Amino acid sequence: MPSELLKTFKTSGAVAFSSHRLVRRIIRNINFKNAGCLIELGPGNGRITKELLRGMRSDAILYAFEVNKAFCIELAKIADPRLKVINKSASDIKEFVSSIKFPAKNYIISSIPFGILPETECEQIMRAIYYASDKHTTLIQFSYSLIQYRRFKKYFSKVKVQFEPINIPPAFVFVCKK
Ligand SMILES: C[S@@+](CC[C@H](N)C(=O)[O-])C[C@H]1O[C@@H](n2cnc3c(N)ncnc32)[C@H](O)[C@@H]1O
Repeated sequence: MPSELLKTFKTSGAVAFSSHRLVRRIIRNINFKNAGCLIELGPGNGRITKELLRGMRSDAILYAFEVNKAFCIELAKIADPRLKVINKSASDIKEFVSSIKFPAKNYIISSIPFGILPETECEQIMRAIYYASDKHTTLIQFSYSLIQYRRFKKYFSKVKVQFEPINIPPAFVFVCKK
């Protein structure tokens, strides 16, 4: 599966999946008691997904949006009824969120590789994330570059930055609220 990352570098934007340290750093930002409904964008082969499921309440639900069909097949092997894998782009979440009963407190956990996608696609995805969020939503996004800070600050008034050195490459975690 790491070969799938390299084969599809133009959409994966990564040479390796997230390290356990990075996954833990992301997860630490979630208060699972308040999380009835979570959305993951770009789950890949499920490194973060599996840890989310480990922490989630038994009645919580996780919608995972992944454009890569091979990864969707891999994710479908995680036999957990709380996980719904959706083979669509992150830019479709706005319509999706308005079509489901979405609890007020929620998290969007994103691995979208904003550093390598075309700018128009990045903005389309950010607009979709913005409109799918309300004042109770926390967006948790990792990126390999601090340059992305401006992108999140444009849409979210509060943006906290964390750093995880033990990852290939080292990564920043942005925790954003409206
Ligand atoms: C850097 S990889 C992260 C994989 C995994 N979450 C991890 O942390 O190891 C980025 C993932 O985003 C997916 N992706 C890229 N563009 C996407 C989009 N518009 N919508 C949904 N997923 C997308 C890629 O296919 C890839 O699986």
